[in-house]
Amino acid sequence: MKHLLATDGLDPALATAVLDTADELKHTLLGREVKKLPTLRGRTVITLFYENSTRTRVSFEIAGKWMSADVINVSASSSSVNKGESLRDTALTLAAAGADCVIVRHPASGAAQRLSEWLAEPGTSVVNAGDGTHEHPTQALLDAATLRERLGSLKDRRIAIVGDVLHSRVARSNIHLLAALGAEVVLVAPPTLLPYGVESLPVTVSHDLDAELPAVDAVMMLRVQAERMHGGFFPSAREYSIAYGLSEKRQKLLPEHAVVLHPGPMLRGMEIASAVADSPASAITEQVRNGVHVRMAVLYHLLASEGAAA
Ligand code: CP
Repeated sequence: MKHLLATDGLDPALATAVLDTADELKHTLLGREVKKLPTLRGRTVITLFYENSTRTRVSFEIAGKWMSADVINVSASSSSVNKGESLRDTALTLAAAGADCVIVRHPASGAAQRLSEWLAEPGTSVVNAGDGTHEHPTQALLDAATLRERLGSLKDRRIAIVGDVLHSRVARSNIHLLAALGAEVVLVAPPTLLPYGVESLPVTVSHDLDAELPAVDAVMMLRVQAERMHGGFFPSAREYSIAYGLSEKRQKLLPEHAVVLHPGPMLRGMEIASAVADSPASAITEQVRNGVHVRMAVLYHLLASEGAAA
């Protein structure tokens, strides 16, 4: 694997290999006081973030450090981007300085793909850490790792993705990855928060959360992305919460074994009740924990495995 830009088109065998590596790394490091492997010694990983992040940036940094890579964090707000430097010049500068891998988050859909084209010549790997409303492939991989842990195989499992699908790169990456791994995906959202062309995606669509919950194996609540809703928010926050929030009462509609996921950051009380987020059915903290092992696995497949240059 040379880059990780999207789950749309990702070979299911490769996705499964990354998940298996993450699982192996998790078990190797379990209970170890010093979590350090020599695998990426001498390699340089740079995170380049043009949007805010807690989970993705920190877990990539920890992942790189646990594999002994040198990890450097560049945030657009404190770099020469603030002086007007373009994304292309910034990326070429990082590659010239010695980056083996650039992990990029950017508000423009397609930014990671463009970066991979500009960095083809220096041969630097690119990971998409979220580009606009397009994709967030490592989030989908860590979600799949968490679901595999709780449910076993994802084949024929029914997963509901609920809420602001329109603006969600997490939803888009999950739709493609879950479908590739054999799961059935149902999108549950108000018509105003579904993307144009939803009929071409490998999903079914519902507007009735209460009707869907009894038949799912997992429910993935999405963040409402107010920062991308320049024309206002319809339905209102209150209407949204009533129709699409995962309340304690609604949680009782779920089968006993069903898993509750949220990529974070959560709007407690609106998207999900605190009691649900903190309940035994919730795998939200495990998602974050698995994020480190999945990102270690991604770096391994990009920079260290036999197929790294493919
Ligand atoms: N899930 C996710 O991408 O979180 P951050 O924005 O905190 O990285």
